[in-house]
Amino acid sequence: MVVIRSFSHNRQFYLLSKSCILFIILLIFFGLITFDDIQQKNSNQNDHNPEIFDSQGAAKRALATPLLFIGGSPRSGTTLLRVLLDSHPSIRCGAETHVLQNLMILYWRLSLPYEKIRLKLAGIDQNLLYSAMRNFMLEIIQNHQKKFVDMKTKDILYCNKDPLLMNNAIVIQKLFPKAKFIHIVRDGRAVVNSLIKRQVIISNFNLSDYGDCLKRWNRMVSSMNYQCSRISKSCLTIHYEQLILNPKYWMSVVLKFIGVPWNDSILKHDQLIKSGRIQLSLLERSTEQVIKPINLDALTSWVKSFPFEMRSKIDSIAPMLKHFGYDPHSYPPDYGRVDEFVLRNMEEMKQQSMIWAKREKKVIDGRKDIRKKLNEINQNIHVLNDRFEEEHKSVNEDLIEYG
Ligand SMILES: *[C@@H]1O[C@H](CO)[C@@H](O)[C@H](O)[C@H]1NC(C)=O
Ligand SMILES: *[C@@H]1O[C@H](CO)[C@@H](O)[C@H](O)[C@H]1NC(C)=O
Repeated sequence: MVVIRSFSHNRQFYLLSKSCILFIILLIFFGLITFDDIQQKNSNQNDHNPEIFDSQGAAKRALATPLLFIGGSPRSGTTLLRVLLDSHPSIRCGAETHVLQNLMILYWRLSLPYEKIRLKLAGIDQNLLYSAMRNFMLEIIQNHQKKFVDMKTKDILYCNKDPLLMNNAIVIQKLFPKAKFIHIVRDGRAVVNSLIKRQVIISNFNLSDYGDCLKRWNRMVSSMNYQCSRISKSCLTIHYEQLILNPKYWMSVVLKFIGVPWNDSILKHDQLIKSGRIQLSLLERSTEQVIKPINLDALTSWVKSFPFEMRSKIDSIAPMLKHFGYDPHSYPPDYGRVDEFVLRNMEEMKQQSMIWAKREKKVIDGRKDIRKKLNEINQNIHVLNDRFEEEHKSVNEDLIEYG
């Protein structure tokens, strides 16, 4: 009896496992078909939906994220504007990343016809490249300023201020269709004067030649202006001079454009900086200026150092001045009426001029220290690793050109 029962038990078990296995085989078989179907569908849809293959759903998120990009020629008040916005509890811009600008250089390199074909043969089409760029950019924009984000605040508008990115606004808008851009423009004569006085290096600008710098400024802002006009619904142009003369009015225009409600904290950026709530980089050249309340120190101080012989040639060297509404034949130009708020700031700063000079010096000394350390590191690397460095560098150059 015992044997038979155990036999029938075994047999039941045998039948059960057999049907189980059959079931699993069927499941896999149909599963494969449906999986193939889905893959087929996906790859068809992928031609139209760039986000479909994104495993994290991050590209989808990127497409829905409303970012803000602030750009313009360097020395045009881009830092002031982003610091004012950083004073708002629900906007975070942070210091210049430099990473995104380098990414765009890589992007243009990969957009050459030959590179495009090579990428395609490796399965990397425009959609995949865009999706990877979206993830990379979002990661940098949001996380480099993590320490300055109050996690309790919902709906933070993330913003980036790498000034030269304005020259890539059209591509960036393709990457982030909901992004908005603010192009800040300043009188080119003041920009050039500031570049030369502070010896701010921008590639190809000859910092001992006003005419060359003005020409290059003209070319840069002309190109940025074109980018801005091509995405005109998402791009607002404002003028530095107007911003510092009437900060309340122009910041309300900016906030309306980006759809963020007004908050008085925007006019207290100097206090927020003092309490360490705004990210600043000692290496950025505007830092010692933006720690101060909004003032008119930089409005017309360029006039006295602007070379006289440039004045008669200015229309042909920098036609964009006129285009942007600046009077190329007034020295100093009349930039308009100044708001009470700014006059009060200036009065208070005058009374505390010693304190402000001290704060400014502290920033400049801090930068000098960093520069000194950087130079030391550079020199030491040269002494210790001269040969290695040289070889490493030249092999890398070979690799870049490989293929
Ligand atoms: C820069 O400008 C100065 C003054 O015009 C000129 O002497 C010098 O050769 C220029 N440098 C370069 C690299 O073009
Ligand atoms: C402005 O921001 C502060 C926090 O910085 C907040 O407490 C206040 O409620 C905000 N005011 C308005 C009108 O939103």
